Amino acid sequence: MNILVTGGAGYIGSHTCVELLEGDYGVVVIDNLCNSNPESLRRVQELTGKSLKFYEGDVRDEALLRKIFAENEIDCVIHFAGLKAVGESVAIPWKYYDNNLNSTLVLTKVMNEVGMKNIIFSSSATVYTGDNEMPLRESSRTGNCTNPYGWTKYMTEQILSGMANADKEWGIVLLRYFNPIGAHHSGRIGEDPRGIPNNLMPYITQVAVGRRERLNVFGNDYDTHDGTGVRDYIHVVDLAKGHVAAVKYVLENKGCEVFNLGTGTGYSVLDMVKSFEAVNHVAVPYVITDRRPGDLATCYADPAKSANVLGWKAEKNLDDMCRDSWNWQKNNPMGYGE
Ligand code: NAD
Ligand code: UFG
Repeated sequence: MNILVTGGAGYIGSHTCVELLEGDYGVVVIDNLCNSNPESLRRVQELTGKSLKFYEGDVRDEALLRKIFAENEIDCVIHFAGLKAVGESVAIPWKYYDNNLNSTLVLTKVMNEVGMKNIIFSSSATVYTGDNEMPLRESSRTGNCTNPYGWTKYMTEQILSGMANADKEWGIVLLRYFNPIGAHHSGRIGEDPRGIPNNLMPYITQVAVGRRERLNVFGNDYDTHDGTGVRDYIHVVDLAKGHVAAVKYVLENKGCEVFNLGTGTGYSVLDMVKSFEAVNHVAVPYVITDRRPGDLATCYADPAKSANVLGWKAEKNLDDMCRDSWNWQKNNPMGYGE
């Protein structure tokens, strides 16, 4: 079985390539490296002792996609390629709509042409409206997105589910990720954000390693157990395994199904800081600042459907996530750039 992984050089993609290769799948990657370094793929091969095929290029490049499908017998696509910086999407919306929507439209056009209609898409908990009860179920309300990035995920879900409705040959899985953190236990691959990290864990690790002075905790007056925001953090290796489970599912089932990939447990910003310090014996100085616009108090998944239908459950705990995030950062203080 060969899997085409778009965006496979990125954070979640590289960890998924490891799990696929270890599961004896053939892996073909297309990535334009706009937010990644090919070193990640070199290390994926070093870790697994197996090789993958890499095409450097853009998923919106129709001719390149045709060439990839002509040169490889692909059984399923995992579509990670996309831009993901929420703030940038507000500043440059066109870039996000162009990249995230056109990549999916061109990819599915070529898949339709070649008659290979199995796809797994990286969606996000951001598609849920902010007024839902917790935990979030796949049937919870979606839409009312607060930024263009979120709209691209919402719209792509609409595009793909509409295609599955119209053509019963499509097998489509929409995976709504909660907050992926952590890294492969080897410390060889991990998250390598460009510039100042937007997300909590890479910011914590960069403070711990001395690249930044202190963490800004965005608000401590939320209605949560300690006033700071609560999220469902999930180890990226668990998330990667969720994709292998989704591949097995989509190869046997047609139609469009959506699954949450989360743990079902929420931790606050200060829970994260304290666990990180305790597990790793490093200090993470922080200061409380204003709330970040658009942030919710609490967000966590009900992962029951994934457990029941995909047979997948997150196995790693908060200590594992904090340890592995730190192991990656301290061994690669400047990420892949060093
Ligand atoms: P990432 O930026 O590390 O990986 C995305 C990869 O896609 C990068 O290697 C980038 O170079 C590539 N890419 C982007 N546009 C491309 C294009 N047009 N053609 C070819 N390659 C392209 O991000 P990630 O954290 O691994 O996220 C993967 C996917 O999961 C994204 O779609 C993201 O929106 C989604 N997601 C991520 C999170 C998160 O918190 N990390 C949460 C929910 C959903
Ligand atoms: N936070 C801080 N300081 C920081 C960064 C974050 O206090 O420097 C707080 C936030 O206020 C929030 C929590 O840490 O309470 C988590 O913030 P992240 O930015 O790490 O994650 P979000 O839940 O805001 O967003 C993430 C992804 C989005 C995705 C969303 C839902 O970044 O792309 O999960 O899946 F849409």
